[in-house]
Amino acid sequence: MKVIVIGALGMLGRDVMEASEGAGNKTLGFDLPELDITNYPDMRSALPEADRIVNCAAYTRVDDAETERDVAFAVNSEGARNLARLSLRRMVPVIHLSTDYVFDGHTKRAYDEKDRVNPLNIYGTSKLAGEKALRAGGGPYLIVRTQSLFGKHGPNFVRAIARKLRESNDPLRVVDDQVSAPTYTRHLADALIRLMEAGSEGIVHVTASGSCSWYEFACAIVERLKPGHEVVPIPSSAMKRPAMRPMYSLLNNARYRSLTGHVLPTWQEGLDAYLKEESNFE
Ligand SMILES: NC(=O)c1ccc[n+]([C@@H]2O[C@H](COP(=O)([O-])OP(=O)(O)OC[C@H]3O[C@@H](n4cnc5c(N)ncnc54)[C@H](OP(=O)(O)O)[C@@H]3O)[C@@H](O)[C@H]2O)c1
Repeated sequence: MKVIVIGALGMLGRDVMEASEGAGNKTLGFDLPELDITNYPDMRSALPEADRIVNCAAYTRVDDAETERDVAFAVNSEGARNLARLSLRRMVPVIHLSTDYVFDGHTKRAYDEKDRVNPLNIYGTSKLAGEKALRAGGGPYLIVRTQSLFGKHGPNFVRAIARKLRESNDPLRVVDDQVSAPTYTRHLADALIRLMEAGSEGIVHVTASGSCSWYEFACAIVERLKPGHEVVPIPSSAMKRPAMRPMYSLLNNARYRSLTGHVLPTWQEGLDAYLKEESNFE
């Protein structure tokens, strides 16, 4: 297959490039500044014909989005609309990444693809608008909702904790009332290839297996990098952050399993694989 990856320089995009090449696909990567998904005419002329387009490009700064609404919507909503136009024009399937932040996290069970959406912040609202644009576009699409990504090619929670452990002996304070399934980008990239190969369409939830709070995730990192370092659980209300986050936003992966016959490794396996890949945190 000939595969185009947009957002190819981002945390997930780089791993998708590698996974796609590893699967034997002719893979072409695009990103800013050469390609801007908010500019349809330029995008259309820059992108060659392909069998699949994977869109990893996004505005991902969740807190900044609260004050940069227009930019977040331009990339996450208009950008997706432009891809939907291209998808219809060329009848090329677009695999588009979305987020658990389209949900409010008020349920106490893992969300299915058909559950009611209700984003709590601007980032989630802009990503939901992008989903709607793809669904309304008329071309073939697959929307992959995922969450709490960590990988070698971008800033992430594991790296942030590792830095704090290196720089200080002060106890870490980490929220213990937000639950998700931290997902290793290499594992997600492999899952995207499986979905592509299966020709899947619609919406699908894909995350690591298992679940934990950010506090539990931090404890697991500490256990592996600096055992004995104190980690203190705190409520989200103690962290004054501009954007609200869902408290419990696990995503049910049953559809992914039925489409591919596969489940992702656990978040602990993802963490171990990441730490092995990232053995030098300097
Ligand atoms: N990170 C997470 O925890 C998480 C969780 C759930 C879902 N997701 C979704 O997963 C996808 C990948 O996330 P990620 O963390 O890998 O993101 P990322 O590291 O921020 O990468 C996004 C890439 O898109 C590029 N980009 C931004 N605006 C663009 C535009 N107008 N045209 C073309 N490229 C543009 C960025 O370039 P610049 O760096 O130059 O801006 C960057 O290279 C996104 O759809 C995100 O919403 C992420």
